[in-house]
Amino acid sequence: MTQLPGLLDTEALRKDFPILDRVLHDGKKLVYLDNAATSQTPRQVLDVLSEYYEQHNANVHRGVHVLAEEATALYEGARDKVAEFINAPSRDEVIFTKNASESLNLVANMLGWADEPYRVDRDTEIVITEMEHHSNIVPWQLLAQRTGAKLKWFGLTDDGRLDLSNIDEIITEKTKIVSFVLVSNILGTVNPVDAIVRRAQEVGALVCVDASQAAPHMPLDVQALQADFVAFTGHKMCGPTGIGVLWGRQELLEDLPPFLGGGEMIETVSMHSSTYAPAPHKFEAGTPPIAQAVGLGAAIDYLTSIGMDKILSHEHALTEYAVKRLGEVPDLRIIGPTTAEDRGAAISFTLGDIHPHDVGQVLDEQGIAVRVGHHCARPVCLRYGIPATTRASFYLYSTPTEIDALVEGLEHVRNFFG
Ligand code: ALA
Repeated sequence: MTQLPGLLDTEALRKDFPILDRVLHDGKKLVYLDNAATSQTPRQVLDVLSEYYEQHNANVHRGVHVLAEEATALYEGARDKVAEFINAPSRDEVIFTKNASESLNLVANMLGWADEPYRVDRDTEIVITEMEHHSNIVPWQLLAQRTGAKLKWFGLTDDGRLDLSNIDEIITEKTKIVSFVLVSNILGTVNPVDAIVRRAQEVGALVCVDASQAAPHMPLDVQALQADFVAFTGHKMCGPTGIGVLWGRQELLEDLPPFLGGGEMIETVSMHSSTYAPAPHKFEAGTPPIAQAVGLGAAIDYLTSIGMDKILSHEHALTEYAVKRLGEVPDLRIIGPTTAEDRGAAISFTLGDIHPHDVGQVLDEQGIAVRVGHHCARPVCLRYGIPATTRASFYLYSTPTEIDALVEGLEHVRNFFG
């Protein structure tokens, strides 16, 4: 097996992931390279989920019985784990949602219903970028349509980076919020947070960071980011589906109005009006994703036991290797940065004029799972004049051998389509 400096002991780690032993059609071993879509779940998380349902399942914050108290302690314990994982100043700044999309929609709706000084209206501007996932475009389009605010965005350079050359024209005194992705799910680009945050702070705009493709792969420190909101999701970081996080600065969470109303988010309710519980509960209406939050806590324990620095080094080594190996495939064009330094471990590419859906299908026949399409980032495809891409994305259990299998698989694709 190819050895690279900085790799984790994947032979040992892969034993934690039962699904990685799956043998698919024609006896082909699974090569799972769709980690940017969802990561696999280690035994340690599966065990915690089973134990939760077998021993502790109850609703939270509502009962005086033993199970309710245990479930509440586990759910709130997961909040502590998330807070520590992202270096949040306070656990009360961690809101559980169902996914990153809901987290981003929550921010947009908080601002949509807010009073001054946060209110978004026809005299204000919202700034995003052309490399956003649809979940960081559509909520802002909806907000702009509803309020009359102007939606602006940073364009992209030919090599897949943000074009910040006109930053002072894009972020202006009218900007209320700048919302951008830390690591692009389609291009893999790691964005320059500091430059954007500096300019946003100059004009008094809020900053929201979509860290969905960052939180699973690198140390994430919300204080160092200096953002006002940070969103991410559990299922890309070894956790279950159905759990997302929105971190927000405490004073903002105190000032901003709730979006969803219901049980648990209130202090008192009368037939005429209600008062709200303090954050984070103000933003968690109804029965929350309890088991999923507990599973996310277990995933954080798992990732932390390996070390986020080590995971980052592992993926960096793999990405460098993959960029080199993919560069050897004739007609292959990487869409996004072609250096490993400033990119994450999701690599999109086109292969001559073979449609990515065909590429994906022939790879699938060889047991290789990749994602094809516009990756919920259609404006990026439009920008580069392509209908779609094939995307391979790696995680802590990915190996150079799997990258070799991908490259070999792409040779089959080329042969198949002549
Ligand atoms: N956001 C996920 C992806 O990029 C679904 O595949």
